[in-house]
Amino acid sequence: QSPIRVALLGAGTVGAAVARQLYARGPLLASRVGAPLELSGIAVRDLSRPRDLPGVPEALLTDRPEDLIDGADVVVELMGGIEPAHGLLTRALEGGAQVVTANKQLIAQRGAELEALAAERRVGLDYEAAVAAAVPVVRVVRESLAGDDITWIAGILNGSTNFILDMVARQGMSFEDAKDRAGELGFLEADPTEDLEGIDAAAKIVILARAAWGVPVRMEDVQREGISQLTDHHFDTARGTGQVIKLVATAWRSGTPESPKVEVAVRPVSLAGDDPLALTREGGNTIVIETASAGALRFAGAGAGGEPTASAVLGDVVAAARRVVAGRS
Ligand code: HSE
Repeated sequence: QSPIRVALLGAGTVGAAVARQLYARGPLLASRVGAPLELSGIAVRDLSRPRDLPGVPEALLTDRPEDLIDGADVVVELMGGIEPAHGLLTRALEGGAQVVTANKQLIAQRGAELEALAAERRVGLDYEAAVAAAVPVVRVVRESLAGDDITWIAGILNGSTNFILDMVARQGMSFEDAKDRAGELGFLEADPTEDLEGIDAAAKIVILARAAWGVPVRMEDVQREGISQLTDHHFDTARGTGQVIKLVATAWRSGTPESPKVEVAVRPVSLAGDDPLALTREGGNTIVIETASAGALRFAGAGAGGEPTASAVLGDVVAAARRVVAGRS
């Protein structure tokens, strides 16, 4: 089999981890796909910036993403933000490439449009890493549970705010100090309000809701409240009653299974100390999914970070590459 050409757009923390794992696991991935994966290039904005890409030939770096896309079988977008990512992925799908992305805001805001284009061109659009990074949930609600009736999804989908809330609840840190600590450790988004106001969690629950029920869900549909208005008084009150405050994202089905309506919310909630969501430590993510037949299913693990996010991206790359191989025969 000739190699599957994989184009990488973005070489930040996640992009660099994907490139490293692609090289380190070359033979393993080839055996899983049935053809070798060849990194055809890495598009970056600034070629002069130093990169943490040991073992990756420097000649693969380019600042011309369009050229890379046009020759690729699989395009992996890890740039973040709406543009130019949206335009580049539109180009990739129109050209018949399989697309993998970890871009939560893009999929939350423009996912329906990109999925329609992917369906029209009969290619895949996969975004497991956009929600809870390494914790498999997108494929679970979209495929594994497609024969069931999902009634409810609740999750801790933002690791940074969970870190802050956990520091307050378990280490007794003040809310202000915990926020500062999260910032110092680089756990907050470039714009921290995305985390603190629940915008990041809202994007993730929108993605999950659409993947689970196949109905249009918009960011504006989310009843959203962040954690920035909380005070030490709220935490003291919760502690006094054995409860834990968590930023919980929820989606539930109203209407009928055949004609679902979906409600989505993100808000701080006081949970009993032994609730599975309350047990989420530090920067972790937990998702509980309730269905008519399977009952309640729980998923938990690393919801952020270069290596865990790259794990989810590579899972999608393998799935996409297998489709390329299947399409050749
Ligand atoms: N700021 C995000 C979080 C990063 O804390 O979950 C991963 O999407």
